[in-house]
Amino acid sequence: MITKKAELADNYKRTWIYTNSAREAWSEIIEIYKKSNPNGSILLPAYIGWSPKEGSGIYDSVVKSGLSYSFYNLDLHLQIDLKDFKQKALNDKNQLVLLVHYFGFPDNNSFEITAWLREKNIFFVEDCAHAWLTDLIGGKCGREGNYSFYSLHRILPVNNGGLLVNNKPLVSEKSSIPYNIVSYDYYGIFNKRISNYRYLSHLLKDLKDDFTMLHENLEVGICPQTLPVIVEKYNRNLLYKEMNDFGFGMVSLYHTMINELSEFSCDAVNILSKKIINFPIHQDVTKSDLDEMIKKLKEIIYV
Ligand SMILES: Cc1ncc(COP(=O)(O)O)c(C=O)c1O
Repeated sequence: MITKKAELADNYKRTWIYTNSAREAWSEIIEIYKKSNPNGSILLPAYIGWSPKEGSGIYDSVVKSGLSYSFYNLDLHLQIDLKDFKQKALNDKNQLVLLVHYFGFPDNNSFEITAWLREKNIFFVEDCAHAWLTDLIGGKCGREGNYSFYSLHRILPVNNGGLLVNNKPLVSEKSSIPYNIVSYDYYGIFNKRISNYRYLSHLLKDLKDDFTMLHENLEVGICPQTLPVIVEKYNRNLLYKEMNDFGFGMVSLYHTMINELSEFSCDAVNILSKKIINFPIHQDVTKSDLDEMIKKLKEIIYV
């Protein structure tokens, strides 16, 4: 039998629960996990930032939960060290494992990693704070873990807001997305960010000795939140300040690592956090803005 129209109310349904922030969604997920694992622990990626203004979007919720935690290694391009990851994930199969899709990019081996976690029946969560559109439009993350969470102000012109998705709901839940959030053209935003990323990557080719892109290739389905690079020669903090003083909104989300990573040794912590800077490529940015930004960048670094 085939009905004339789709009638299965829960078929292909994803329930988006609105929260005040991504960290609030993350805290709610940890509390759910804690109910069945009161003495559980959390396995985190070894690249977690902190700032005096915002605290730590990932770590604050972990500390609040009172659960123990450990870290797995990431390389200079934020790729997961698979051997280390698998070994640590198997140390305790009841722990909660967090995957973070930094700046909108899932790990290059994301498919293999999530399949492996599912096969081992490990509870895992996808931090899509930067990757809502890589999930929603690109379909490249956010659907494999037990839960995923998102940060709206990292993508949209809003001051706060987060989302939580339970990918394995036992009973039907009701979405709670505010009206103003539904009214954006997400396909348009997705395409604009990709097109800006491609254009800026092209401009940065002239500066390839000065900046190394974290992600040279933008695979189909990936919607970048920013364009992260490693600053090879110039002082990163100075560049951040100078560019912002000239009105170019560079971001340095992960310039300072949480204290707990100060003794931890992997390239993401030791090298990347000291050299990373992120260029803006959001939906308000035009190609001529990017031309002007690179012109100013060249003036600064070639004096
Ligand atoms: C990777 C990551 N996860 C989670 C968060 C928390 O986001 P929010 O500021 O919406 O709580 C942030 C932002 O700090 C983040 O960068």
